[in-house]
Amino acid sequence: MTSPAMTAHIRIRELTFDYGGDRPAVDALSFDIAKGEFIGLLGPSGCGKSTTLRMFAGLLAPTSGQIVINGEDIVARPPWERNMGLVFQSYALFPHMTVAQNVAFGLRLRKVGKAETASRVAEALRAVRLDNFGSRRPAELSGGQQQRVAIARAIVIQPEILLLDEPLSNLDARLRDEMRFEIRDIQTRTGITTLFVTHDQQEALTMCDRIAVMNGGRLEQIGTPVAVYDQAATPFVANFIGRANSVPATLSHLSGAPQLRLEGQWLPAPRAEDLPVGVTDGTRVSAMVRPHAIRLAKPDGGLTARVVRRVFVGSVVEVELQLADNHTLIAELRPDSDGAALAEPGAEVAISWRPTDMRIFAA
Ligand SMILES: Nc1ncnc2c1ncn2[C@@H]1O[C@H](COP(=O)(O)OP(=O)(O)O)[C@@H](O)[C@H]1O
Ligand SMILES: [Mg+2]
Repeated sequence: MTSPAMTAHIRIRELTFDYGGDRPAVDALSFDIAKGEFIGLLGPSGCGKSTTLRMFAGLLAPTSGQIVINGEDIVARPPWERNMGLVFQSYALFPHMTVAQNVAFGLRLRKVGKAETASRVAEALRAVRLDNFGSRRPAELSGGQQQRVAIARAIVIQPEILLLDEPLSNLDARLRDEMRFEIRDIQTRTGITTLFVTHDQQEALTMCDRIAVMNGGRLEQIGTPVAVYDQAATPFVANFIGRANSVPATLSHLSGAPQLRLEGQWLPAPRAEDLPVGVTDGTRVSAMVRPHAIRLAKPDGGLTARVVRRVFVGSVVEVELQLADNHTLIAELRPDSDGAALAEPGAEVAISWRPTDMRIFAA
């Protein structure tokens, strides 16, 4: 009884939705979510995040597949029998109602009594730190406050699952940063299993327990923020989460210490167990390295590059480097480092990185 599948709060199995386009908007999505987890659905616009959330909420019926909650497939249940709180990008507050009336809306639908409604509304407003705002109208609130009312309205029904669809994208940058922590705090205090849709990798990295990275309707990878950043499973994930340089290379010496042939130079490759399955000597691969992992030094007979540009961006210096085959790399260096000092535009520099800072993907 201890397998992960048995302890999962939610199991998504082969979940598919087809609007009738070239390919399904959501394509055979499968993963598990534990009770109380804060899961990010991350991917570019159009990758199927909102469609997935709408199937959860019961606003769309899946073309095929299952959403199993506490062991029961709920796809045939109507929205009002799902016990889910939903928050959209547009807060969708009723402008003619007060904050308290907005928050009470779901309770009225559920025919909750007056006294209980009042205490639960007060509790929900306290949770989002809007205790004294019950009698205001939405127009009298800032964007961040309106967003918190929308969250209060979703959590007041004591949902088993909270669904958030790009809830921060209408806020200005400063407020968005604050609200990240507010939302995460509210979720941690209430312990509600949460699906959080975003196209913003920073939001996903800073807020989520695990991130499901989607691309073209499919799941590319699911893992903790550290795992999807450091151990990207696919080139898409490596490039979507953080910045990544990709350089074509050839694998060799796989029976001994794996080597990588790059620009006529031999470099040590990652350990054999970190290489893609099925590679052999001579396999063409793509070597991915993060900008902050690249080190610069005086030319030493190893891999060299020419400095194209050096830009000071505050906490780091960004250096654009050109390899002999015209491939471009971006390095991020500490402004006070020796490497940054060497990076005079036009200069020839040695570049290196640790084998463990490199991901190898089949080309
Ligand atoms: N009502 C619709 N009719 C037809 N196609 C749609 C509809 N809604 C979304 N799509 C398409 O489905 C894909 C996924 O959309 P969506 O789930 O909204 O993506 P995301 O939320 O990740 O931006 C996109 O290609 C989009 O154009
Ligand atoms: Mg969307």
